Amino acid sequence: MTRVRWVIGNWKQNLLRGPAEALAKRMVAEIPNQLLEADHRLRIGIAPTFLALDAVSPWTRPSGPLWLCAQDIAAQDQGAFTGEIGPEMLAEAGVKCAIIGHSERRNHYREPDILVGAKLHHALKAGFTCVLCVGEPLDVRNQNRHESYVISQLSNAFHQLENELCSERLIIAYEPVWAIGTGKTATPSQASAMHRTIRAWLLERFGPAGGDRSILYGGSVKPANAATLMAAGDIDGFLVGGASLDASKFLDIVHAAANG
Ligand code: 13P
Repeated sequence: MTRVRWVIGNWKQNLLRGPAEALAKRMVAEIPNQLLEADHRLRIGIAPTFLALDAVSPWTRPSGPLWLCAQDIAAQDQGAFTGEIGPEMLAEAGVKCAIIGHSERRNHYREPDILVGAKLHHALKAGFTCVLCVGEPLDVRNQNRHESYVISQLSNAFHQLENELCSERLIIAYEPVWAIGTGKTATPSQASAMHRTIRAWLLERFGPAGGDRSILYGGSVKPANAATLMAAGDIDGFLVGGASLDASKFLDIVHAAANG
């Protein structure tokens, strides 16, 4: 498999600066060099809160071992947008990667598809690596409408995206809402089937560059299920919430992604 594998820890609204720095430091110390050297197609990222970025930044490097990621990014660089932090400011803090459209932002803060698309477009144009999150809620899955729901999220997010912005810097994370923080993981076949659907859609929308994008799974990923998920095929790594707050669990998941 030539696609880049990613494992990204989304720390959400957890960890003050001290514990965030300690966790990053521990992760760096425990990532075996051989893993990264032997496998240049593996990337590992962490997304602390905005206020912990500078505490964590000395333990990350743009070329590895840890990528510094933001949990969100504004759709503009600066201006009268209270509370927002845009690409220029994040780049200044050493961030080159951003999570966009996480379901917690879509659901708790009512971020609409159009805003998710604007953030994605602006961040890609600014040179960021972007992790676009998609995923259906439980009622949609129960009504068997999950594929069309996710495809609609994709087509809205990519509405006006120029084809040249579909590159290695574009990553998709499939995170079914019902699996996030619930301990209820999608089965490997559910995850793999959705990843194939997403890949087929990207291929049709962008041509070969679309079909070659890394697609991550997120939602209650743990050391106990990571290898089985990888083995299902078409899963290029993970976006990890709760388990990423524990260095040894996170690194077990990294190993599963590297070996899968
Ligand atoms: P959990 O791994 O805690 O389910 O969270 C997944 C997630 O939302 C990652 O972005």
